Amino acid sequence: MPTAPLQKQLQALPTYLGGKRQLLLWLSSCLSRACPVARWPELTFVDLFRGGGAVSLWAKAQGFQSVLSNDISLRSHLLGQAFLSNSRVRLSREAVLSLTQSLPEGILAFVEAHFCPDVFSTRHAQALDQGFYWARQHPDPAMRALLLTVMWHLATEFVAFATSLGTSNRPFAEALDGLRAWDDLNPKRYTDGSLKRLCEPAWARLEEKRRLINGGILGGSPVTLYQQDALTLLPQITGDILYLDPPYAGTVSYERSNEVLDALLAGHLAPERIPVSEFSKSTDALEALLAKADHIPIWLLSYGNQELSLEDLEELVRVYAKDRVVQGFAKRYRHLSHVSRSQNNQELLILAYPAGGH
Ligand SMILES: C[S@@+](CC[C@H](N)C(=O)[O-])C[C@H]1O[C@@H](n2cnc3c(N)ncnc32)[C@H](O)[C@@H]1O
Repeated sequence: MPTAPLQKQLQALPTYLGGKRQLLLWLSSCLSRACPVARWPELTFVDLFRGGGAVSLWAKAQGFQSVLSNDISLRSHLLGQAFLSNSRVRLSREAVLSLTQSLPEGILAFVEAHFCPDVFSTRHAQALDQGFYWARQHPDPAMRALLLTVMWHLATEFVAFATSLGTSNRPFAEALDGLRAWDDLNPKRYTDGSLKRLCEPAWARLEEKRRLINGGILGGSPVTLYQQDALTLLPQITGDILYLDPPYAGTVSYERSNEVLDALLAGHLAPERIPVSEFSKSTDALEALLAKADHIPIWLLSYGNQELSLEDLEELVRVYAKDRVVQGFAKRYRHLSHVSRSQNNQELLILAYPAGGH
């Protein structure tokens, strides 16, 4: 039987668009059809699109011989440094309290200047300016990444919807700053706890976040991190199991939907807009990737059904799978239950493996 996923430990990871935290049991039971769990300690698992890190953290805990984990974005790389390559450095109380120090004289209050009140209220923007500034000053990369993760978690507490760090929060930020009447806000927000949370002192959740994050620092397989374009990296690495969870063609892009978060983490606005990933634009990039994947025997591909049905996706994979067995699975799934009302969204999974076993 596949090992039950680590739901509690995975809460250390911030909420991530398209994250597979809720689907790990399904992924691992599908994978075990191609390769029994008892063999996993002999194998290398490759997670080519790490995103919020759930699959890589799960793989690390399973005790694969090694895990290779990649994502092109800085936001995901930070999670890798905090939870994947790091198994030892933990957050102390003193370290998280250092985030609450005032900004030094002469340092620009970047969040307040650029995202207030478009995204955050003044009080929240000031806390983010302090915390992100001090997190970035830490000399140790693992500790710096952990402190930035604390601030990422807190930033999601400072908006009404944790999954949406953007201008959809403006009405709430304006109400908090006295620029708009509270009666203007959707009455639902009075009952779902979001307004109560927004009214708390900015640092109220600091200790809770510290414990949550320390819970995700696990021992396990050695993990090698990469921050590269998947198409460039894949021919340069090898392994036994290739997990692909690219951006789904025809859905919201990671580059646009994370612009505020990416600026908070970097401490400045990107000098130029980061181009939208080729994987978000069409399925051509996915096909190009599969064409480069033959040297890794077992493939597990996650995809959505926005542009392709399960049958279409199976067909697409078969073109590149050569003599592998190809099996498809589907699950009804809603990523953002407060935004997406569609009942038709499905998570698709394709497993491809050598006919004689690996
Ligand atoms: C669907 S998410 C992965 C979610 C992940 N499996 C999880 O459980 O959180 C897709 C990720 O692909 C990354 N990405 C987009 N284009 C990429 C590229 N060309 N190479 C590598 N990563 C890319 C995005 O930054 C995003 O984090």
